[in-house]
Amino acid sequence: MRGKFITLEGIDGAGKSTHHAWLIDFLKRQGREVVATREPGGTPLGEKLRALLLSEPMHIETEALLMFAARREHLDKLIQPALAAGKWVVSDRFADASYAYQGGGRGLAPEKIMALESWVQAGFQPDLTIVFDLPTEIACERLAKTGNAPDRFEKETQEFFERVRNTYLQRAGAEPGRIKVIDSRESISNIQKLLENIIVSS
Ligand code: TMP
Repeated sequence: MRGKFITLEGIDGAGKSTHHAWLIDFLKRQGREVVATREPGGTPLGEKLRALLLSEPMHIETEALLMFAARREHLDKLIQPALAAGKWVVSDRFADASYAYQGGGRGLAPEKIMALESWVQAGFQPDLTIVFDLPTEIACERLAKTGNAPDRFEKETQEFFERVRNTYLQRAGAEPGRIKVIDSRESISNIQKLLENIIVSS
């Protein structure tokens, strides 16, 4: 039986990576074979593209093209084979991030993203997407507190993240069956309960 493809999304600083690790562990405890991955990245070439994307200044269309180039490789080398082998794949970001960041954040026309999406994914979509939602002022404060050097995206303004957040919420509103929103202001244990309920009922 084909596995399920779950993607986690949200603005930088919304706590997605912490919950990614917990979700993988939860699915394994349920007896699933699980592959944890991320975008941009997930393959040797994808990780090289990630390093460029997070550091090099580039045209917004170059950025979108490289995101989808990494995604093409990710689908071919990791996601599709794992799903076909019955494994569950949990990816820290996927194509909704391109709509939110390149579309909402940078202002790239959604038609251009849709064209890349239909080329690269040919109709393939996650079975379930969870958006970790957080007001941008809290996310920006959390990012500042980490003390880590910010990457090219994390250096963006609060207004940029406001547009990214709104795009995620609009997409969740348009596709409530696939995209579930979790309020990241909830306690970690409440978020884990919410995740468990979403997985069990999906
Ligand atoms: P991460 O910090 O969640 O690992 O993701 C790296 C950055 O890449 C994050 O700031 C969002 C950005 N990104 C895009 O702009 N478009 C995309 O399609 C993806 C997958 C990520």
